Amino acid sequence: MYRPKMVNESVNGPWANEIDFLPDPVAKQRALDEFATYLNPQKVRVMRAAGLDIIEAQRSGPWVWDLDGRRFLDCFTSAGSFNVGRRNPRVVAAAHAALDRLDHGNFLLCSQQKAELAARLARITPGDLSCTMFGTGGGEAIDFAIKLARGATRRSKIVSTVNGYHGHTGFALSAAGRAAFREPFEPLMPEFSQVPFGDFASINAVLDESTAAVLLEPVQGEGGIVVAPPDYFSQVRAACDRVGALLIFDEIQTGLGRTGKLWASEHYGVVPDIMTTAKSLGGSLVPISATVFSEELREFLIPNPFIHLSTFGGSDLACAVALEVLNVIEDTGLVAHAAAMGDLLFAGLHEIAKDYPEFIADVRGLGLMVGVEYVEDSLGPRMSYHLSQHGVLAIYSGNQPAVMRLMPALVIEEPEVEFLLDAMRLALNDLRAGAGPDEATTRARRRPVRDAAKQ
Ligand SMILES: Cc1ncc(COP(=O)(O)O)c(C=O)c1O
Repeated sequence: MYRPKMVNESVNGPWANEIDFLPDPVAKQRALDEFATYLNPQKVRVMRAAGLDIIEAQRSGPWVWDLDGRRFLDCFTSAGSFNVGRRNPRVVAAAHAALDRLDHGNFLLCSQQKAELAARLARITPGDLSCTMFGTGGGEAIDFAIKLARGATRRSKIVSTVNGYHGHTGFALSAAGRAAFREPFEPLMPEFSQVPFGDFASINAVLDESTAAVLLEPVQGEGGIVVAPPDYFSQVRAACDRVGALLIFDEIQTGLGRTGKLWASEHYGVVPDIMTTAKSLGGSLVPISATVFSEELREFLIPNPFIHLSTFGGSDLACAVALEVLNVIEDTGLVAHAAAMGDLLFAGLHEIAKDYPEFIADVRGLGLMVGVEYVEDSLGPRMSYHLSQHGVLAIYSGNQPAVMRLMPALVIEEPEVEFLLDAMRLALNDLRAGAGPDEATTRARRRPVRDAAKQ
């Protein structure tokens, strides 16, 4: 049997560097046609226009291969879901071992795997966060965080941020910072409001004794990789304490090393009352999320042990996989590695920004959570297209199309950072040369970023 050449032994590797399947453009086309017919035709159109009509076949570390045989450096990573790399060999082995003896488990019973993972999370999460409720996805984790905040405080107001993103489930959707996601489903949960992110005065103005919780991403992800001013979170923490409101950090995208710290809150030295994690916790293999909170808040659950249940949340299989994800992060020094690779990427991108001022307005982020803001919205989809032509899968932010997210697997090495930087230059050169997909097909509106931000 053909054995792929392995590279990258140093961090979590080895990764396959060569294709180990037979490319099948016909099967690819069939998948796209069936997807359009039975799932979502508009998604197929939009992805095609952005050069991202990719049908994933082989996945390995920071790389993914399309069914037609093209290789891409995955800089989207399902919005930060593949921190330890795709199909990390250690995590795959742990999943195989778990499959040999476990299944989901009985959600009503106490479970060894749940207990072990919860104990581990208690050790590695900030401050006095020590109790866990498991779920299957990020939205579910946020839903429980808000239920806990309301239940424990017996207050109703939830404050989140404009352009914030917390998922599409009930409470999480009510907290969404983009009206277009909320409006078709209104009336949603009452007593939710959104204030501008990073602006302490506006959050302070709405906090009062009826506020149950403030819900914040430590770095806004879908909002366009927005980093708050350094004292923002400590000010919010103090204001929450003043009115007795809880502080919830959504670390679903920022956590598990993404920003160069295990949790992004560590950059600010602020401990929340409730924290959510998901995505990369499942090691790209299983769905799992966790809402972690203080013992004090657990008091609410003592008389109500069955008030929040999830059949598959924190299944025995998923917990076994997640434990190995945490082992990998710890054993390989992945967090420090992400910080070092982030520094390299930032240095290169700042040089590129200087060379292409007609396209790039800003480069920002923390660690390997990087945003490149273009001077206008249409450049987001156009750059996705050009980057795809140079072997990079990257997509603009959901709530801010002018901002390209670069969030590769944390296991990338220097040559892969160079590959990404080269692809950026090549894609920008394509823009300069006026090459590219038909503008109309991108359906992007050409309007200046500053105006877009006001709308
Ligand atoms: C910050 C944040 N919170 C919550 C979610 C929702 O997670 P899920 O899609 O697993 O429900 C996401 C997903 O992108 C996210 O980025």
